[in-house]
Formats: sequence, structure tokens, C-alpha cells
Amino acid sequence: MVGRWLKTSKSWSNSSTKNSVTETLNRRKSCRSFLDCKLPDGLILDLIDKARRTPTAGNSQGVEFLVLDEKSLVEDFWRVSFSEKDKSTFSFPGLLRAPVLVIPFGVPSRYIERYKENDKNYTNLGENTKEWKVPYWLTDAAFATMALQLLAIENQLETCFIGLFDREERIKETFSIPKTYEALGVLILGYPDTEQVTVGGSQKRKRRPLSEVVHLGAWQPPL
Ligand SMILES: Cc1cc2nc3c(=O)[nH]c(=O)nc-3n(C[C@H](O)[C@H](O)[C@H](O)COP(=O)(O)O)c2cc1C
Repeated sequence: MVGRWLKTSKSWSNSSTKNSVTETLNRRKSCRSFLDCKLPDGLILDLIDKARRTPTAGNSQGVEFLVLDEKSLVEDFWRVSFSEKDKSTFSFPGLLRAPVLVIPFGVPSRYIERYKENDKNYTNLGENTKEWKVPYWLTDAAFATMALQLLAIENQLETCFIGLFDREERIKETFSIPKTYEALGVLILGYPDTEQVTVGGSQKRKRRPLSEVVHLGAWQPPL
């Protein structure tokens, strides 16, 4: 295993095909400036329905989505998120114009119940959430959210995923979300404002080289 070459081949995938996974991933980047322009009726539900085909642990299906797709609801979200002062100095005002916000939630109780069942109880994961080294409800929510981003891009939308940090509890209260549900973050979606592109500080960071992030067979040099 030591010293294997890292080789990639463009010929393995049809990267040039429009809307292929490769092309869509290449086009994906966080958008922080949106047009004040609604999505076609039914589009977001259709995309979420497709996105939820991603795998879930034990087929627990414990991922749910809060969709805020009306102006007043989106405004409520930002009002609860920021004080007026923070809003007025916010670096990405164009982010607040996005017409749709989707908050994916993991539902731990669905995983606990599922892992109590006969075929899974050998794992002891049906005991309580503390037994879970990896909280699969958030893993599954992240899978679905990534799929939703790619589907959105395929439909000429752009997206930005951001964390909720200490806003989570206030948001849960405002939108009557059950206390035990865990938010992954918020996916902001809409049509990009191509005349007012804003780049976040994080986006200026270079992508790490493949050779640094892939370890063929073992870490080199050995730890
Ligand atoms: C878990 C997670 C949390 C993020 N939180 C924020 C955030 O709070 N604010 C923000 O502007 N971008 C946030 N981002 C977007 C990242 O900054 C962005 O994905 C990264 O800089 C790479 O840029 P790209 O998405 O354009 O490739 C977050 C992304 C992820 C995956």
C-alpha cells in the first residue's frame, strides 16, 4: 500500500454532460446575494420529495423539513435571527432577499424507536441518544440537504447553507418545532443576483490538494 500513486481520470465520468452530477457539483458554490423573485409554485416541494430519496440509517426516515416560502415567514426567520442593529450591518444583505429557506431537522426519537426493533437491538442504540457515536439523524439530514442543493442547482437556483448557532432555540419556538428535533442549519435558496455577487471570507480559501486529503491504504508518513 505504501507509495501508491494518486491518479484521477476525467474519462471515468461524463463530466461534460449538462446536469450530470459532476457538472452540477462543479457549478455549486455558496450564493450570498439573491433576487427578490419567487420560485415556481410547487417546485420546492418537488425538490424536497426527490431529495428525501437519500439513504437513512436503518431506513428510520427521521428527517423532516421546515419550509419557509412566504415573504412574511422568511422575514420572521431573519427577525428572530438578528437584532435590527446586526441586520443593518450584516455583510450579506442580498442573502436576506432569498425567497425560500429550508431548515432540515433530524428526529432522534425515530432512530431510537427503529433501533429498538428486533433486527437492530444488538447495537444497543435503542437505549438513548447518548449511545450514538455518530448522530445518524444529522448524517441523514445532511445527505438529504446536499441532494436538495444539487437538485436546486439543476433547476437554475443557487443555495447557501449556513449554521443556526444560538438562534436554533428561538427559531424552534417561533415556528412551533418540537423541542427534541435537532436542526442541521438552514438552506437558503433562490435565483442569484448576478449583478451583486458577494464573496464570503471563507470562499477565498483555496481547496486543499487531493493528495493531502486522500490517504491510500494508510496515512503517509505513518503516524
Ligand atoms: C456546516 C456549514 C456551515 C456553514 N455556515 C456558514 C455560515 O454561518 N455563514 C456563511 O456565510 N457560510 C456558511 N457556510 C458556507 C461555507 O462558508 C462555504 O460552503 C465554504 O466557504 C465553501 O464555499 P463554497 O460553498 O462556495 O464552495 C457553511 C457551510 C457549511 C457546510
